[in-house]
Amino acid sequence: MGTNGNTSTGGGDAASELARWRRGITAANAAETEALGGQLAALLPPNTALALHGALGAGKTTFARGFVRALGATSAVASPTFAIFAVHEAPARQIIHADAYRLASPAEADSLMLWDVLREPWTLLVEWPERLGEYLPDGAWHLWIEDAPPVAEVPPVADAPPVRARRLRLENAP
Ligand SMILES: Nc1ncnc2c1ncn2[C@@H]1O[C@H](COP(=O)(O)OP(=O)(O)O)[C@@H](O)[C@H]1O
Ligand SMILES: [Mg+2]
Repeated sequence: MGTNGNTSTGGGDAASELARWRRGITAANAAETEALGGQLAALLPPNTALALHGALGAGKTTFARGFVRALGATSAVASPTFAIFAVHEAPARQIIHADAYRLASPAEADSLMLWDVLREPWTLLVEWPERLGEYLPDGAWHLWIEDAPPVAEVPPVADAPPVRARRLRLENAP
């Protein structure tokens, strides 16, 4: 087991996988964040919302893309900020990817017909979930994506994009 908690392929039993997610997992780059989205897709039960917390640019949409891809949906996963939500049909799951950033109020969520399109078994991925307020479905899982503490001082490489590791941590999953 590596010190970043990232060496698992997601093949352990569900309880130990969940414990790993609750301790927090480091993603060194966007590709790792996307891969972790695929791993959590295998753990999240059907008919459950996953609230994706994190600042602008944290990697919420990147994570959602990996989640949607892993379940076999082929539609493009972009930031649905303008549409508020997008529907992805996967073979065994209908995935609604919502971005509540531009909701004027939680009540507006209720008028979006989001609930009308939910078809079991569904997954609801929500960016900026606090803006859904009371409309976030009961029993939602909460994932936090934050800047990871620096592991070591890395000398900057001229003109290279900064390496931005993230810490992904699951809260209050069963
Ligand atoms: N470790 C990382 N995890 C996720 N994204 C990263 C990471 N390092 C750099 N990035 C970049 O940060 C950006 C995250 O964007 P996005 O997923 O749209 O964030 P959000 O939806 O949280 O606003 C992408 O351009 C991605 O390539
Ligand atoms: Mg986003």
